[in-house]
Amino acid sequence: MELDPWASDRIKDYTRLRDQFGLGTLAPDATGLPEGSLFRRSIVFAHRGWEPFGRALADGKPTALMTGLMPSGKMHLGHKMLLDQVIAYQRLGTDVFIAVADLEAAATRDLPLDECRDFAVAEYLQHYVALGLVPCQFYFQSERVQVLRLAHQLSHRVNWSKLEALYGFSGSTSLAHATAPLVQAGDILHPQLAEFGGPRPTLVPVGVDQDPHLRLTRDLVAAVRKVRCRQAKDGRIGAFATAGDGTAKLLKDAGKLCAKLGFKKQELKVDYGALYLDDAHPADVEHIDAALAYVDASHGGFGFMAPSSSYHRLMLGLTGGKMSSSEPDSAIFLADSPKEAQRKVKRAQTTGGAAVEEHRKTGGRPLECPVFELYAYHLMDDDSKLKKIHDGCADGSWFCGDCKALAGDLLGGFLEGHQSRLAEADTAGFVV
Ligand code: TRP
Repeated sequence: MELDPWASDRIKDYTRLRDQFGLGTLAPDATGLPEGSLFRRSIVFAHRGWEPFGRALADGKPTALMTGLMPSGKMHLGHKMLLDQVIAYQRLGTDVFIAVADLEAAATRDLPLDECRDFAVAEYLQHYVALGLVPCQFYFQSERVQVLRLAHQLSHRVNWSKLEALYGFSGSTSLAHATAPLVQAGDILHPQLAEFGGPRPTLVPVGVDQDPHLRLTRDLVAAVRKVRCRQAKDGRIGAFATAGDGTAKLLKDAGKLCAKLGFKKQELKVDYGALYLDDAHPADVEHIDAALAYVDASHGGFGFMAPSSSYHRLMLGLTGGKMSSSEPDSAIFLADSPKEAQRKVKRAQTTGGAAVEEHRKTGGRPLECPVFELYAYHLMDDDSKLKKIHDGCADGSWFCGDCKALAGDLLGGFLEGHQSRLAEADTAGFVV
């Protein structure tokens, strides 16, 4: 399996994907996870490095959230899923940053920057506000010099082989496209610059197709850190520093901090640039590493903590593939009239039997059905009602026609409410 952020396909086996890429399982009872059906139902199903963010959130410590959008097509229910998460974290007090990936859209979709700008505000931001987002940092990649500067600074640590391996870039990839991952790394890390709030655990909630960007960014954090915690090849855990003449002083400060965290069995080997922590366990590494960001910052480093990321499933399209703005019948747009949305649902490709008798015998496969996803992801918060639909579909007693009619009704109700909030949506509090 491969993950291509610019050409993701329908994903059939999320468990395999999670295992193949070494993602963690984001269980509904994970520390710090907000309430809400997307989390409870494991639609947000995996993570990379959740622990420092989840712990800080649960402890009421400062946290940031960073995500982005490509303003390339109209906003649909797949996009809404991300916003539902962002809003849930914002309500818990997380500092929210949203990048309009206008440079990425220009580079990979050939869209003019000024069109991206107008569209992002007129379409996305309006819907975000109608969904409940309150003022936060909503900015354009092309206009935030700190992001661009960071992208350039980080680019020193990336060579072409790495981009080839991560993204399958080749000799024909344009430099604009090749720059997109670096700008995204700049997006992800800039909330931790002093002027944007300083080092703090940052969550990047995204579709799982974005994971290559997170792997790149985490590697970059490791590369620019003057001190970090890791497990060495010989199995020993320690703080390792590369700070030239400053190494001894830096490791001394790291030692003090680690002692405060409860790791007291320390052995300092300045020659190796190492402070071994012999009472630390592999499960402690992520947490210690996050804390060492402050020591890094106080010794002239960027002080970046590795970002935490969470991944949601990509919604199925109504016409079979994935939900995509480039295929209007595959998607329910937030601006679709209830009637239009109902028409699309009626024609959706479901998994039930073609004829009544056949359906009674074989039933459908709700977990592979785009209409069932409408309920599970957006329309039905009540788990016991959802279970009834699921079981009725699977055992053949609940028919696709009825199921679509009910989904269409609920969807119509949602769209009506949303669109009346849209008419009132006030984006004045956002500085754009
Ligand atoms: N690449 C993302 C997309 O295609 C958009 C994006 C830009 C983003 N910068 C980001 C996502 C930072 C998360 C974090 O949708």
